[in-house]
Amino acid sequence: MQILTVANQKGGVGKTTTSVTLGGIAAAEGQRVLLVDLDPHGSLSCYFGKDPDRLTESVYRIFEQRKTLSRALVQQYILPTAYKNMALLPASTALATLERQAIGDGMGLVLHRSLLFLQQQFDLVVIDCPPQLGVLMVNAIAACSQLIIPVQTEFLAIKGLERILHTLTMMNKTRARPLQYLIVPTLYDRRTQASVTSLRTIRNNYGDYVWPGKIPIDTRLRDASKAGVPPHLFDDTTRGFQAYQSLYRSVDQAPLTAACNIGGA
Ligand SMILES: Nc1ncnc2c1ncn2[C@@H]1O[C@H](COP(=O)(O)OP(=O)(O)OP(=O)(O)O)[C@@H](O)[C@H]1O
Ligand SMILES: [Mg+2]
Repeated sequence: MQILTVANQKGGVGKTTTSVTLGGIAAAEGQRVLLVDLDPHGSLSCYFGKDPDRLTESVYRIFEQRKTLSRALVQQYILPTAYKNMALLPASTALATLERQAIGDGMGLVLHRSLLFLQQQFDLVVIDCPPQLGVLMVNAIAACSQLIIPVQTEFLAIKGLERILHTLTMMNKTRARPLQYLIVPTLYDRRTQASVTSLRTIRNNYGDYVWPGKIPIDTRLRDASKAGVPPHLFDDTTRGFQAYQSLYRSVDQAPLTAACNIGGA
């Protein structure tokens, strides 16, 4: 079972779009995919008609019952979706309360321990993170085998990147093997100087850690999120979606370009 985490503490950079699109592509190829929504806002859950304000049964309940985790307990919160090969561990707004809790007491490994029960059930797990460096993101990073960091091609992006890479360096000290990660330039608009310049800066600064492609601005991806339909079923002909297909191939045919130590920016 491959576990991909999509994270960046900066908001609106394409984390949820990346999660649902990569998950959808894998599902269309016949992989059994579990999407995990760790964002209290529940944008990922909304793609599957789940309203995080109304859900009481969500991944939050797993955190709540972390002292008595079992396979049956975890499975209880996994929902089937209307789409083939896609299951969802949804978010609820209650997740926000976890961010105030301390990471001690085994709290950072709840998701890792939960996913271990699902090894035979899924081929790919994709975890979508909230835009916050807190206990939920720490759980997602501790649980995954590969990390994708979407970075918007705009001037402020680089600062955010430094922060998340610092967190990774800290977390890597407790991992047996350093985590693979890949920076994915998103929302690229070749007509704007800001996009062109910041993409160049990201590549210059982070070299091999950056996916060689880029995800362009594509209004059809936005339309898909408005319609609440995973992009692979909404419109699979657009440039944005095709860029994600190419990203999927880079990730699926691991090793990632940056299969090495963190911190070498
Ligand atoms: N390549 C793209 N082209 C056009 N619109 C996009 C693209 N990627 C994402 N969007 C749109 O931008 C908005 C933010 O994207 P998304 O929700 O994926 O970001 P996020 O990082 O998950 O945000 P948050 O931090 O709030 O969770 C959404 O409306 C989404 O549809
Ligand atoms: Mg999101």
